[in-house]
Amino acid sequence: MSQMSKEDALSLPRHRHACHVMLYADTDSKLFGRYQTKHIVLMQMRFDGLLGFPGGLVDLSKETLESGLSRELEEELGVALLVSPEDHVSSSLAPAVPNLITHFYAKKMNESEIKEVEKAAVTVAKDHGLEVLGMVRVPLYFFKRGGGLPAFLSNSFIGSARSQLLSALQSFGLVSQQELAKATQQANQ
Ligand code: GTP
Ligand code: MN
Ligand code: MN
Ligand code: MN
Ligand code: MN
Repeated sequence: MSQMSKEDALSLPRHRHACHVMLYADTDSKLFGRYQTKHIVLMQMRFDGLLGFPGGLVDLSKETLESGLSRELEEELGVALLVSPEDHVSSSLAPAVPNLITHFYAKKMNESEIKEVEKAAVTVAKDHGLEVLGMVRVPLYFFKRGGGLPAFLSNSFIGSARSQLLSALQSFGLVSQQELAKATQQANQ
């Protein structure tokens, strides 16, 4: 990922900007009543069949990165969540789209807030069933025969969403470094 500071990214004259956010929460819920799921991490199935984070293109002539992200969240999730500059994680050049900078944010919520977002995403979000086919939770655990996180990582992702996910899981301590290494090694096998 060709990362740069947010300030450097904003000083580029002819680039477009997009902002996406990883919403996550701690949870005590257990899969099959037995396996700790530990954290909820939200992604979405996009119209193009690729997995990505909620968010989208921001028009800096009309809005800030964060207010544009809130507008996109209103469209895609049905809730205009406030994302602050402190939630910024990274900015980088998009790998496949010329002159596009993607800014990545992460916002910790509590479990009930995440559930409200999931509910709004299928009831009031105007993009539901169109640009967004559904919200998904990322399995952060390991299951039989590469199931769980390795199988999830074998899906197709938009742009650098997969590496944004992996580095956020590590830096926010949601999955250990050893487990991440195992998951990426088991993915696509
Ligand atoms: P429209 O409302 O249809 O214009 O789409 P949008 O504004 O919601 O834009 P979108 O979310 O598709 O993001 C714009 C561009 O950013 C995409 O074409 C991708 O190249 C890239 N992109 C989309 N999602 C992600 C993501 O989760 N991570 C990264 N790194 N890039 C993404
Ligand atoms: Mn959008
Ligand atoms: Mn848009
Ligand atoms: Mn979008
Ligand atoms: Mn749109």
